[in-house]
Amino acid sequence: MKLIFLGPPGAGKGTIADLAVEALCLPHISTGDLFRAAVKDGTPLGLKVKGIMASGGLVPDELTIELVKERLTRRDVEKGWILDGFPRTVPQAEALEGIAGVDKVVNFDVADAIVVDRLAGRRVCRACGKIYHVKNMPPKKEGVCDVDGGELYTRDDDKEAAIKVRLETYRRQTAPLIEWYGKKGTLLTIDGVGAPAEVLGRFEKAIRK
Ligand code: AP5
Repeated sequence: MKLIFLGPPGAGKGTIADLAVEALCLPHISTGDLFRAAVKDGTPLGLKVKGIMASGGLVPDELTIELVKERLTRRDVEKGWILDGFPRTVPQAEALEGIAGVDKVVNFDVADAIVVDRLAGRRVCRACGKIYHVKNMPPKKEGVCDVDGGELYTRDDDKEAAIKVRLETYRRQTAPLIEWYGKKGTLLTIDGVGAPAEVLGRFEKAIRK
């Protein structure tokens, strides 16, 4: 099954993808994670995108499409994938049509006030990338990952000014994809508010239909 996760920043796409991958036996491909790994490793791509990401803007389409194209040639994608954070513009969606078909596009519907609270409280493990929230999903020990004891940090783009830019960018460049995929008949919109287990249940029910 080939799934796209769509929704505003902080809607819970990464959290639900992490919960869903085991049951579905599909790789979770997050363009944000791929770019963050490039930044961490100091690759030429990482150096190009570091500033753009920290400010909350989008990486140019050509670079992003190339990254996804390469990732979708790996062997683990034979049975499908969950693409989280791609496409994010109409040109990216058009490019994806030339790379692979898509079965369902899952749109996580969450109001702005909730996503701002989720992003401001997000903490991520520097070592394994596990996502926490200081109130909603706190680690057992403050600042420390439950899985591997790694340090929890705040993403540069989870600071107030960048959150504002990301929400504006989402409205202008990504939200039009809701109508775009709606016309194609592949769109499933689910309520992204509630505990992660509840949202996961809605997601599983929607894709079974
Ligand atoms: P990316 O990493 O994709 O960021 P995003 O889309 O803004 O999404 P987030 O990762 O912020 O949020 P999420 O929906 O995954 O929420 P999460 O599960 O973490 O992209 C980062 C940057 O990379 C972009 O700004 C851009 O620069 C670049 N980029 C990436 N893809 C690109 C593309 N295609 N084109 C161009 N540029 C691209 O949850 C958020 C918080 O909420 C967490 O703390 C979590 O614990 C909590 N939470 C989650 N679910 C719940 C719940 N149900 N209840 C309560 N709390 C919850």
